[in-house]
Amino acid sequence: MKHKISPSLLSANFANLAKDLEMINRSEADWLHLDIMDGVFVPNISFGFPVIKAVSELCQKPLDVHLMIVNPEKFISEVKATGAKIMNVHYETCPHLHRVIQQIREAGMEPAVTINPATPVSVLKDILNDVYMVLIMSVNPGFGGQKFIERSLEKVKELKMMINEAGSDALIQVDGGVNLETASLLLEAGADVLVAGNAVFGAPSPEEMIHKLKTL
Ligand code: DX5
Ligand code: ZN
Repeated sequence: MKHKISPSLLSANFANLAKDLEMINRSEADWLHLDIMDGVFVPNISFGFPVIKAVSELCQKPLDVHLMIVNPEKFISEVKATGAKIMNVHYETCPHLHRVIQQIREAGMEPAVTINPATPVSVLKDILNDVYMVLIMSVNPGFGGQKFIERSLEKVKELKMMINEAGSDALIQVDGGVNLETASLLLEAGADVLVAGNAVFGAPSPEEMIHKLKTL
C-alpha cells in the first residue's frame, strides 16, 4: 500500500485558512491533520471545535484529528460533529484506553492512539487489534517546527514487528520533524502515514512539497 501524507494545519496561515485549504484540496494530500491542544496536557493552546467545523466545510480531504488534551473521551460527540474520519487520543491521557477506543468506534469514527517520545511502544500490545492507527510522536507534542527525535525510527520498526505478530492491520503514523530526509527513513522503517507541518507550509510551494513527500 502506498503511504499517506497528512499535512498539519498547525503550520498554515490562520489569517487565511481558506487559501491553504484550497491548496490542500488541489494537492495529493490524503488527509488533513488537525492538532487540538489544551494548555494542560501540552504547554500550548491551538484551536478547537468551531475552527475544525469551519475547516471541514471547505476541506475535501478526510480529517485526522489529533487531540493533545486531558479527558479526550468527554469530546467524542464534538469531534464526531465536525465530520472527522479519525479521532486520535494520547495513551498518556487515557487510563481506560480500551473503553475510549470502543466509544470512538461506536460513534462512527476510526480510533487512533498516540504515544509521546518517552512512552515505549510495548504499552500498546493489548490494543493493537482494536485501533485503526497508532501515532508515534517524533517530537514532544505542543509545537510545530521542532527537530526530529532519531530514536523514533527504532520505535517504528519495533511497532511494525508487534503489529505483524498480532496479526493487526493498524497503520503506523509519525508526527513531528518530518521532512524529505526523515520521511525516507521513516518509510524504510515501516511508517504508513506521515504528518508534516513546517516542511509543507514552510516550503516555497507547499503543493509541490506534498507531491515530493507522496512520491518518495
Ligand atoms: C505537534 C503536532 C504536530 C505538528 C508537527 O505537537 O502534533 O502535528 O504540527 O509539525 P512539524 O511537522 O512542523 O514538526
Ligand atoms: Zn499532530
